[in-house]
Amino acid sequence: MFENMRTLGRLIRTLTTKDPVTRVRRFYEIQAPGVEFAARTTRYMNVGYWEEGVTSLDVAGEALAMKLADAAGFKPDDTVLDVGFGYGDQDFAWLRNRRVAKVHGINVTPRHVEHAQDRAREEGLAEQAQFQLGTATELPFEDNTFDRVVALESAFHFYPRSAFFAEAFRVLKPGGTLATADIIPLSNGTPRMSISAGPLSFVKFSIPDENWHDRARYAEQLAAAGFANVDVQSIQDHTWEGWRQFQANRPSDPAFQAEVERSAVKGMANHWRDEKLIKKELALLDYVIAVGHKP
Ligand SMILES: C[S@@+](CC[C@H](N)C(=O)[O-])C[C@H]1O[C@@H](n2cnc3c(N)ncnc32)[C@H](O)[C@@H]1O
Repeated sequence: MFENMRTLGRLIRTLTTKDPVTRVRRFYEIQAPGVEFAARTTRYMNVGYWEEGVTSLDVAGEALAMKLADAAGFKPDDTVLDVGFGYGDQDFAWLRNRRVAKVHGINVTPRHVEHAQDRAREEGLAEQAQFQLGTATELPFEDNTFDRVVALESAFHFYPRSAFFAEAFRVLKPGGTLATADIIPLSNGTPRMSISAGPLSFVKFSIPDENWHDRARYAEQLAAAGFANVDVQSIQDHTWEGWRQFQANRPSDPAFQAEVERSAVKGMANHWRDEKLIKKELALLDYVIAVGHKP
């Protein structure tokens, strides 16, 4: 009860925060890692890329990270900037699987930065994986520094995303690539504030109006920032429904039940109960992988 009151207090404080960047940070600080990552092996926070037969968000989360790496054209020895890295799982995976030389991470949420820094130290990778506080629209790096800039399900938060595109262009070396995995509406005609299902509350509370536009506008903004060979592909069919099913099934998963309190299991079941509304609103959202090259 006391904990619920505290969460409610934090939620109200977040929603009434005017500055968009502070609001997003507070949004991420409300979340309880003990529930979010119960019975999981990774801390991926993205919705995942769901192939036939995949039932784990850990597998789907990593698959999305690898799709993004492929879209960005990661090569061994690349220096990568990862903006909005969450807890950093994908950065360790890219060092391991894609053999990139170095990953720098920028994030506004101190809890995420500290976790990723601790992990880098523990794994003896503090040189190759460097994480720091900062915001996407003021990247603390010199011009022409990186081979690749990526944002794995984070650019929808940036205020505004177009300013991040300009910053990504600036810090990329000529010949470098920006790639994002991102959330946008399918149509410019869907009012952002009309999305009302509880599990989709991030749309209302953590996406600025400036970022609420369709794929065509997304491509225009990348081109306006100077990017060439812009490509914005929908992967909607491999994202939302797999994520929804995973989350809706969690409360009946014995491993999840064993790790969290009964009240949290009940809360989660309630949160995902309105399948009809959630599916209807998810059908209004696109999920894209976007790529642009710096000439
Ligand atoms: C949905 S999470 C995705 C995390 C991670 N990429 C993953 O796939 O698990 C979004 C992340 O973006 C970060 N973020 C939000 N706004 C940001 C900003 N303006 N600059 C940098 N990071 C930001 C959040 O703190 C959070 O870590």
